[in-house]
Amino acid sequence: MFFHHRMKLLDKIGREFSGYNILESGKRLIDRKPLQCSLYVTDRCNLDCAYCTEYDNSRPHPSLDDLKKWIRKIRELGTMRIALVGGEPLVHPNIVELVRYCRELGFATSLTTNGFLLTRKLLAELEDAGLQVMQISVDRMTPSPITKKSFRTILPKLDYFRDSKISLHITGVICADTLPESRAVLETGLSRGIPTEVRLVHADPLHRFRVDRGPREELERFIDSMIERKRRGEKIHTSEAILNYQRSLLRGERVEWTCMAGYKLFFVSAQGKFWICSMVHTDKHIMDVTLNDLYANYRKKSCQEGCGVYCAVSASLLVEKPVRVLGKEIVARTKRIPSMFRRSLAPDADKTTHSAITNPDGTHKMNGGTNGSPSADDRVTLRKGV
Ligand SMILES: C[S@@+](CC[C@H](N)C(=O)[O-])C[C@H]1O[C@@H](n2cnc3c(N)ncnc32)[C@H](O)[C@@H]1O
Ligand code: SF4
Ligand code: SF4
Repeated sequence: MFFHHRMKLLDKIGREFSGYNILESGKRLIDRKPLQCSLYVTDRCNLDCAYCTEYDNSRPHPSLDDLKKWIRKIRELGTMRIALVGGEPLVHPNIVELVRYCRELGFATSLTTNGFLLTRKLLAELEDAGLQVMQISVDRMTPSPITKKSFRTILPKLDYFRDSKISLHITGVICADTLPESRAVLETGLSRGIPTEVRLVHADPLHRFRVDRGPREELERFIDSMIERKRRGEKIHTSEAILNYQRSLLRGERVEWTCMAGYKLFFVSAQGKFWICSMVHTDKHIMDVTLNDLYANYRKKSCQEGCGVYCAVSASLLVEKPVRVLGKEIVARTKRIPSMFRRSLAPDADKTTHSAITNPDGTHKMNGGTNGSPSADDRVTLRKGV
């Protein structure tokens, strides 16, 4: 019994430090190859979030053969991590096979989903295929006309993860519609031991905000409170650097950084096109991209000011200042270890993590491009039909 608890505790401590995959990622901090790629496995989506420009139901799913060809090419470029995104990845009929294929090729593999189509069986199949990380997007406690992604749908599914090897993260979007519930979203995730993040809504490729962003001062207070909690070691699922970055965005302060999108990280569209990031698209096909094309994107971009592609900012800051970014993250995660020991001494406390389906207040009620060398400063296209 004691041995079992000790192993579980060691496993948990190991997981705390596995997110960054430090040794593997370390190689990409010093060589010229890409660290990560986000692959749109489909443009189609079963929802219609008002802030989103990343779905298009007029387009068919890409075929399994095409996707596999692109995935092989992404790996040949030396990419280590692949994030399966969309549209909604779970609407692709071959999603399990795609995950299996990514793992066979040696990718660290994650999937971002709205979770609506997630079932216990599908999660088990994805786990069996080797999926390591699942990010479920949850914006509110209850659905609204702006976004249906709420804990009303997701809370009953958290139990599926109780014995799963897949690491679950929760991510929400903060805008005027969601802000009154964003704290509750954060508490609900954190109180169940799930790394959780809520982040500011970003503009579309034409720099337009599709929804009201919310009152600046309130947003700033909220970001400040997350910085505080992150420093205390709580499982806020983003780095302090990104929280500071968001605060600077709100204050209109200039941030000094070099965007590594198109180089250390890049996107591949559901038509196989090479995209610098989710906002800056090119017409070049992924099959024609070379390491030199990628390296050409190692430069400051004219679209950096106000950039809301947080995964790109995050990877860029990591590559630029690895010691500072990783150091703070390691310190924050180390602060969690004493509470893990406390929990391991009270083993029953563990069971509440993913299983207690209650609100934070303790109640059970839920209401509710371009041709040629791809470049970030080239033509920006807004996807048709969006
Ligand atoms: C485009 S979605 C695709 C995956 C899946 N359909 C989902 O919603 O999780 C990927 C992530 O981008 C977020 N997102 C979409 N539009 C956004 C925006 N304008 N600002 C901030 N985040 C956004 C979503 O909430 C989600 O977490
Ligand atoms: S954010 Fe995700 S769920 Fe919402 S419309 Fe976009 S792709 Fe669909
Ligand atoms: S700075 Fe431009 S190219 Fe870089 S991530 Fe932001 S929008 Fe994309």
